[in-house]
This record gives sequence, structure tokens and C-alpha cells, in this order.
Amino acid sequence: MILKKSCQMLMLCICFWALNAGYHHNHLAEKVKALLGEDVVLPCSFKFPEGVPVPYIIQWHKKGIKIPIYIWYAGYPPHIGEGYGGRVSLTGQASLHLSNLQVHDQGTYTCIVNFFDRSPDRKRNGSLVHLSVHAPPHFHVKPPDVEYVKTGENLTLRCAAEGTPDPVITWYMGNIPLTEGPGVIIYRGTLEILKLQQSHIGDYTCRARNSEGSISTKTKVITAGSAVITVPPQNITKLEGDKAEFICEAKAFPANITHRWLLNDKEIYQIRWLAPRTVVRRDGTLFINPTSAEDSGLYTCEVFNGIGTPERASAYLSVEYPARVTYSPTIQYLPLGLSGVIRCYVKASPPFIHIKWSKDNRPFDPKAHHGVFSLSNGSIQIQRVVSEHQGWYICTPYNLYGTTGKSNRMEVLVRDPPIFTVKPRQQYQRRVNSQVTMPCYGIGQPKPVIKWRRADGRKLSKDRSTQRYGNLTIRTLRKEDYGCYECVLQNDVATLVTSTLLIVEGTTPHAPTNVSIKTSAFSATLNWLPAYDGNYPQSYVIWYRLVEQADNPWRTMRVEPDETTTFTIYNLQPSSEYEFRILSRNSLGDGMFSPTVKTKTSPWDFLGRVYPTDAYGATYIPTVQKPSGPKPSPPRNVTVQETEDGLLISWLSPLNQKVPVAFYYVEYRTQSMSWKRWGPIKRATSYLAKDMAPGHYRFRVYSYSILSVGQASSEVSLIIAGETYEVTKSRAITAGVVGGILFFIVAIVLSVCAVKICNKRKRRKAEKAYMMVTCPVTDTRNGRPSHADSPSPIKNN
Ligand SMILES: *[C@@H]1O[C@H](CO)[C@@H](O)[C@H](O)[C@H]1NC(C)=O
Ligand SMILES: *[C@@H]1O[C@H](CO)[C@@H](O)[C@H](O)[C@H]1NC(C)=O
Ligand SMILES: *[C@@H]1O[C@H](CO)[C@@H](O)[C@H](O)[C@H]1NC(C)=O
Ligand SMILES: *[C@@H]1O[C@H](CO)[C@@H](O)[C@H](O)[C@H]1NC(C)=O
Ligand SMILES: *[C@@H]1O[C@H](CO)[C@@H](O)[C@H](O)[C@H]1NC(C)=O
Ligand SMILES: *[C@@H]1O[C@H](CO)[C@@H](O)[C@H](O)[C@H]1NC(C)=O
Ligand SMILES: *[C@@H]1O[C@H](CO)[C@@H](O)[C@H](O)[C@H]1NC(C)=O
Ligand SMILES: *[C@@H]1O[C@H](CO)[C@@H](O)[C@H](O)[C@H]1NC(C)=O
Repeated sequence: MILKKSCQMLMLCICFWALNAGYHHNHLAEKVKALLGEDVVLPCSFKFPEGVPVPYIIQWHKKGIKIPIYIWYAGYPPHIGEGYGGRVSLTGQASLHLSNLQVHDQGTYTCIVNFFDRSPDRKRNGSLVHLSVHAPPHFHVKPPDVEYVKTGENLTLRCAAEGTPDPVITWYMGNIPLTEGPGVIIYRGTLEILKLQQSHIGDYTCRARNSEGSISTKTKVITAGSAVITVPPQNITKLEGDKAEFICEAKAFPANITHRWLLNDKEIYQIRWLAPRTVVRRDGTLFINPTSAEDSGLYTCEVFNGIGTPERASAYLSVEYPARVTYSPTIQYLPLGLSGVIRCYVKASPPFIHIKWSKDNRPFDPKAHHGVFSLSNGSIQIQRVVSEHQGWYICTPYNLYGTTGKSNRMEVLVRDPPIFTVKPRQQYQRRVNSQVTMPCYGIGQPKPVIKWRRADGRKLSKDRSTQRYGNLTIRTLRKEDYGCYECVLQNDVATLVTSTLLIVEGTTPHAPTNVSIKTSAFSATLNWLPAYDGNYPQSYVIWYRLVEQADNPWRTMRVEPDETTTFTIYNLQPSSEYEFRILSRNSLGDGMFSPTVKTKTSPWDFLGRVYPTDAYGATYIPTVQKPSGPKPSPPRNVTVQETEDGLLISWLSPLNQKVPVAFYYVEYRTQSMSWKRWGPIKRATSYLAKDMAPGHYRFRVYSYSILSVGQASSEVSLIIAGETYEVTKSRAITAGVVGGILFFIVAIVLSVCAVKICNKRKRRKAEKAYMMVTCPVTDTRNGRPSHADSPSPIKNN
């Protein structure tokens, strides 16, 4: 069965191949048009040769596909190409019925009818059909129905459609077609309007059109507004148990506002004790019912509609309640002979006004007892405890709302405080990398706890320090271990503290602290506190630079003499921000930088006539990087005279001295050189220039204030007689030119000669070669004649 089918196919294929050879599609193709998904008939008809029916085969080819898509031969099931299953059938004489048209069906089809029993050239017949599959446009990218925009922003509406032929997309605003222009870009269907203006707000239509149809989609472009709180929440005060309500009204366009509520910056729905008592109404109002004492705090409402940034507004809720005792310890201890506190744990809103105390069932007024004070937190302090302070105490706090009641009876016992039996020394001094053990021990009733800590609050190193009972050991000491340490002896009766200083020797110094800077226009005076010096004398280096030139390396200044902790840096620029830091060092090397401090130098009094002074009190002219401030007037009446000593350039100071002149610069030039200058000239209005080369000179004078430069004076010319540089130069040029020409001539002569010699040599070589062919040439080697070709025995030599 399979064999038979295969044979059939093979036969058909061979036929197809054989018959197809030499067929040319030189007929004009018939054009057939159909719509996507519809059916179509590709026409083909034939006539039998001489009208006599003979067996025939019908083949339908599609251009681009090798094997016919359809082959029919009477008596056999038709062959149907891939992708055409169920969609093709024969209709009429040889026409092809193609159903459910698809885009890829488009193309050129050929129908060939082959007759058997005919000479090859006459047995062909068929037709050429071009099928185009058309489709009306449909959108595959559609702009949104509503687009919220803000003027000044860019609007981008994407629109893309498919169809056959390719649809053309046109944009309309209202009914007016849009064209590209300044600020309006239409590219592949996407409309972009840059920097929206109010006039751009409106309805936009995207229309896609081809020969099969036209579709459109509309987008409303609406000015959007971010959510704005119109009625913010107000501070409220409620009595505990009442209902509290925070309003947070907002307006927005679009109006899809979401409200968030936070208590002390924490999302309310995440606060477990509060969330179950709250409701947020649709309009954003927050209800708390009932309120409780701990609900007090800052409530923040945040509104957002997806446009711009969320807006927030906050208000306080304060929940008030009568004063209450939160905790009554059954036993409290007082240290005999020391100061002690009898505690009353109070909570009240508004704060308590008064605490009533009783001792052993009798009223106890602290004020009536010497050395007993009421503390602001409700407790009472006894300056020096004696055994009479022992007893049963009760406290009752009151505020505006009264009280919720008194504390339980609290037994206060007077006991001996713990005592140190071993105290650390006042100071320990160890070398870096060594170790230290600082003992501390104490006893008491109840048994006290002994704990070590650093006085500055920093943590003790976990890896390098251990505490065994009262002994603190720090191993491989480091620079940062330097400092004050406290041993704390604590039990319920009292807490005692003793401290000791640990000095780590042999380290570089710590960073200087508390850097403060005072500035003037041209200087800055730094003050700092020395930190631990590593047990060697320390010195400092000040690093500084202009903040605006922070890319440049720091300038440094060694502080002299050593150990000084105040220093002035000179030659700064006025009104400029500088940063400073101080590096400490000792004989072991550089320590650490202090924190960087930024500060601005003060502005310079432009009109003052005072020069800045340096470290030695001498005035100097500052280097001005950016001239600033008012400009001085230019000098007047510039004259130049030749004197025996040289050229004397003099001028008059400007008439208008509103901006004082600090110094002058004299500038000069000849025709062949750019301006050069002499200066600065302070406290003089002339300059003697010596040893001037002859030439045609021009002079001008500038006046400078400390920070700015004025306009130039008028220029003065002078010719200094003598052989000028220009003449020398022109001579040199002439000499150069003449020299060049001579060299050129010599070069030509030499090269001519060289060519001649070469030619001679070439002729000789040719002659030699000719001789070689005609007769053996004799050569001399090692002084002996030998024939070039003859092999010479090696041993001979
Ligand atoms: C088919 O063949 C017949 C007879 O050979 C001829 O008259 C006719 O024009 C042919 N048709 C086509 C479409 O080639
Ligand atoms: C608008 O588009 C222009 C050009 O593409 C771009 O330079 C500009 O940054 C865009 N403006 C905004 C607000 O996105
Ligand atoms: C709410 O209370 C806070 C703090 O008490 C205060 O700073 C703020 O001004 C109050 N707000 C209003 C609207 O009264
Ligand atoms: C509100 O609607 C706008 C426009 O449809 C959308 O961009 C935004 O994300 C929405 N905001 C919220 C909070 O859902
Ligand atoms: C009240 O202040 C004192 C001294 O600051 C303190 O010792 C005591 O523990 C405080 N009382 C309460 C209840 O916190
Ligand atoms: C604590 O140190 C002291 C003195 O260095 C020593 O005598 C004592 O045995 C140490 N105690 C413990 C528990 O290590
Ligand atoms: C140094 O600065 C610290 C913290 O800024 C401050 O607590 C301390 O009082 C200052 N010391 C002096 C002497 O100004
Ligand atoms: C300076 O020049 C002005 C104008 O050129 C002239 O009037 C004035 O007399 C001159 N002054 C002196 C002191 O030479």
C-alpha cells in the first residue's frame, strides 16, 4: 500500500520535473484579489489538443514553493501541499478553490495542464494567476481612551495598525488632520507633541485606512492635576475612650485618589494595637474609636493619584487621661549613707501637677523633710539616706483630670550599699600590642553585678577583651583602646562607678577634635583640641583647598612650633569657601585626619587701602584668581622719556580714587611681540626700564586694586634708534633664502652628475654580462686564479 502510494508520488514528481522543464511564465498574470479569511477561485481552463480528450494532469504551483501545492490526476487522490490541507479543491475544469485565505497565500500561482500522448512542445497548457490577499486595517497598538497630561510635558500617543495593503495612519485633532511641524512629530503612527500648550488639549483621533477599509480610535487629552490636600487634618485633643476623627480632603484630576495614613511615620494598618480601632472612609477621613492613651502622636495623611508626587499633611492627636501609676515595685532599696531614689512610675496627659506621698499610712510631704526633693518624673530623691527613711510608701499622682488612683504599698528598705574591695588603678600604661588586665571587685547584699564599660559610650572590643568576674583584660592593645574605662558595681540598693585611664603607648596620634575656624578676607585661623598623642609629642599639618576646586590636590601647611593648637593660614582668597582638615603626627608617623570643616572667607573691603598681611606681619599682594569688585580708574598722562639710565615711563595716578589703586603694571610691546609687563609697582608712578633693545615700542599702564584690574591707560609710542631686531630678522630671512637657493642649485648639479655616473655604470654592467655569455670570466680568490664553475677540492686549500 505504502509502496504503491510512494510510487504514485514518485511518478507524479518525475512527471512534474520532466514537464516543468522549459516552461516559461511569459503569459501575463491574471490578477485576483480577495479578502483575508474569505474564499477565492484561481481560474484555469484548457482545451484538449484538436478537441480530442486525452488523459491529463493538473498541477498548481505557487511561486517560491518547489513542490506543486496541488496535483490532480484522474483516478488518484490529489496531492495537497503543506499548509493547504482542507483548504484547496478543484473547481470547474482546472480552477483552484482556495478557502479561508491567509496572508501568506498571497503570491503568484501557475496552473499547468499536461496532456499525455503529445509531443512535448504541444502538451502544455495552463495559466498564471496573481493572488493578492487583502485585509482591512485593525489596530495592534491603540492609544488610551483618556490621556492625562500637564502643559510643558511631552505627549506621546502610540498608534499602529495592520492590514493589506499597509494602512496609512493619519492623526486628527478634532476634525483637522495633523501634520508634522515644529514640536509635532509623527513617526510610524506615533504622535508626539513636545512641550504641550493649553491649545494642545483636546480630542485626538488616530485613523488607519487602506483600500479595504478605515478604522479610527479617539483619545481625550485632558490636563491632569496631582492630588492636592484641600482640607488638611487638624491637631486634636481627646479624652481617652472618645472617638477621634482626622479629615484629609483632597482634590485631583483624575480623581482616583488613594489615601494613606501613618502614625509617627508608620503605616497605620501595620500597627497591630491601633489598626483594629481605625477606619478610613472613602473620602480619606480617619476614625479612631475608641481612643486609647498610647494613640497620641503625629498622624500623617498622604494622598496620591499617580500623577506627580504624593502630598502629605500632618496633625497631632493627643489623648488625655487622668494621671495614673503604671507600676508599683513591691520592694525598693535605699543605700545607707548615699543618695537614693524612691520611684513612682507615673503616666499622665496632660502631665501630672502633683504627687501625693504617704509613708507608713501617714502623709509624707517631701518638702517638709530636709534633703528630700521631688523629681520632675514623679520620684523623690533623698540626698543622704538614713535608716529612718525605711518604711511603706504610697504615691498618688494628679493632673488636670485628677487621678486613676494610688500606687500599691511599696516597701522601701534601707540597706548597706555594695562596696569595692578591689579598685583598678587610676591609670594603666601599656605598649601597643601588649595586654592589660584591670581588676575590679566588690561585695554587697544583694550580691552586686560588676560590669566594665568605656566612659565615652563606645563598645568594648568583642574579640580582644574579656571580663572574668571583675577583671577586664584587653589583648593586643590598639590605638583606639586608649581612653577612660568605668567599672560599675550594681545591685538593687545602689550603683557605684569607678574609673581608670588606659594609655596605649607607641601609636600614632588620634585625630584632633573640636576644630573651629575664624576667617578674615585673606586668612583663616584654626583652633583645635589635641587628641591622645600616642605618648609622643605630636605635631600637625593643615590640609586645605578651595571647595570649588575640589578636584585639585590639597595644599598643606606644617604647623610650627610643634604641639601648637592654633594656626593661621594666609594668602587665601576673599569670599571663597574653603575646606580644612588637620592631620596629627608623632615620631611614629601620621595619625588621623580631623573631620573636614568647611568655611567661607569674609568679603574684602574693596575700598579699604589695607593690604593683607602674612605670618610675619608683612603686607603682600594677594594672588587674584578671579578678579572681582569695582575697578580702579586708569592712570593718566603716561609719558616715556629716554634718560641716561634707561627709559623712564611715568604716569599720574587716576583722578577718581574712589577705588584705591594698590599697584600698577606697565605693559610694553614691539610690533613683533605680544604684551609683556613690569610690576607690580607699589607706591610709585614711574618705572625705569634699562637695557632696552632698539625698536618701535608701545607702552600702557594698568592700575590694580587688590582684587581687580582697571582699564588700560592710553598708549604711548617710542622708537629707540639703532639696528632693530626687525632689520636683523629680515637679514636673516634673506640669508636663509639665498642659502636655500644655493643649496638647491648644488643639489641639482650633484644629482645630474649622479645620473650620468650611474648610466656609465649600467653600460659597463651590460658589457660585462655580454662577456660572461661569450667567454669565461676569470676571477681571483685567495690570490689564485680559479674557474667559476669548476669544483675545487676542499683539501686543496
Ligand atoms: C491551451 O492549448 C490550446 C491548444 O493547444 C491553445 O489553443 C490554448 O491557447 C492554450 N491555452 C493556454 C492558456 O495556454
Ligand atoms: C520632550 O522631548 C524632547 C525631545 O525628545 C526632550 O529633549 C525633552 O527632554 C522631553 N521633555 C520631557 C519633559 O520629557
Ligand atoms: C499642631 O501641633 C504642633 C505641635 O504641637 C504645632 O507645631 C502645630 O503648629 C499645630 N498645628 C496646628 C494647625 O495648630
Ligand atoms: C489614576 O488614574 C491615572 C490615569 O488613568 C493612572 O495613571 C494612575 O495610576 C491612577 N492612580 C492610582 C493611584 O490608581
Ligand atoms: C526619675 O529620675 C531619677 C533620676 O534621674 C531616676 O533615677 C529614676 O529612675 C526616675 N524614675 C522613674 C520612675 O523612671
Ligand atoms: C583578678 O585580678 C587580680 C589581680 O590582677 C587577681 O589577683 C585575681 O585572681 C583576678 N581574678 C580573677 C577571677 O581572675
Ligand atoms: C568638643 O566637642 C564636643 C562635641 O562636639 C563637645 O561635647 C565638647 O564640649 C567640645 N569641647 C570643648 C572643649 O569645646
Ligand atoms: C595731562 O593731560 C591732560 C590732557 O591731555 C592735560 O590737560 C593735563 O595738563 C596733563 N597734566 C599734566 C600734569 O601734565
